[in-house]
Amino acid sequence: MSHEIASVTLPDGERIPKLGQGTWEMGEQPSRRGAEIAALRAGIELGMTLIDTAEMYGEGRTETLLAEALDGLRDDVFLVSKVYPHNASKRGVQNACEDSLKRLCTDRLDLYLLHWRGNVPLEDTIAGMEALRDAGKIRHWGVSNFDTDDMEELVSLDGGDACATNQILYNVARRGPEFDLLPWLAERRMPAMAYSPVDHARLPKRSPLDSIADARGMSVFEIALAWVLAQPNVFAIPKAARIEHVRANYAASQIELTREEHAAIDAYFRPPRAKRALEML
Ligand SMILES: NC(=O)c1ccc[n+]([C@@H]2O[C@H](COP(=O)([O-])OP(=O)(O)OC[C@H]3O[C@@H](n4cnc5c(N)ncnc54)[C@H](OP(=O)(O)O)[C@@H]3O)[C@@H](O)[C@H]2O)c1
Repeated sequence: MSHEIASVTLPDGERIPKLGQGTWEMGEQPSRRGAEIAALRAGIELGMTLIDTAEMYGEGRTETLLAEALDGLRDDVFLVSKVYPHNASKRGVQNACEDSLKRLCTDRLDLYLLHWRGNVPLEDTIAGMEALRDAGKIRHWGVSNFDTDDMEELVSLDGGDACATNQILYNVARRGPEFDLLPWLAERRMPAMAYSPVDHARLPKRSPLDSIADARGMSVFEIALAWVLAQPNVFAIPKAARIEHVRANYAASQIELTREEHAAIDAYFRPPRAKRALEML
């Protein structure tokens, strides 16, 4: 029997699951298609109903695969996609969104993100996002890979304070955002969406995660994910194309690390003492 996954709250009060699913690198190899679809559907079944994708992933092929995975389940899912910075002008964002909607076989996105900051003025992107929201094509919009100074600039612009979230690289081995970006977001009740929460499977080989994992009969990935999920105002989107990883990620959402385990992790993966520029994978 599965137990519920905790939630976080968007600035407008809507609650979304603290644990979702990523899709980067899915849909690129025909031989893996069936397994990827099965993994996504198993995750939805377990309550990981927030799914992140992007027009960039597989140049649209990932969205097409996701449409197949969502067959009959679309209304159970909080669907997130992202626009390329070079498509993020007022008109461009609307065209890109229409293309994503077609590939995803849906009439709306629950959240649409600017993938990273490019050369288009933020005012234009905001105008495009707001027009999409008015037209009912997207329910919320946000940004990705924005550091604190970018966020400050965004919310100073007309309409910029409607931003719902910032999707950033954050995990136990990349704790830079804790210095000022996460507090900045928390102050505005804007949850951070942690991408690469198991560091793209590149966690350090020997660390306190090993002994914690051994003692609990779990993997270091599960412990690393449980650590991200323990952070307030943060939700995470691990990507797992293997069903056993999907189940493991769900299991991670069901444990609570002890104070001693947190202390051991902090002693090795030290919280930042100074500003570090936001990393991108
Ligand atoms: N906004 C951005 O710029 C940006 C950048 C990167 C990622 N993202 C989003 O965030 C999502 C997640 O990030 P990510 O894909 O970079 O990294 P990730 O989720 O940290 O790691 C994915 C890798 O870890 C493996 N994995 C997942 N769960 C595992 C588990 N329980 N045990 C062992 N291995 C496990 C996966 O294997 P299998 O797939 O073989 O199961 C895959 O190789 C992406 O898919 C994407 O949606 C956004």
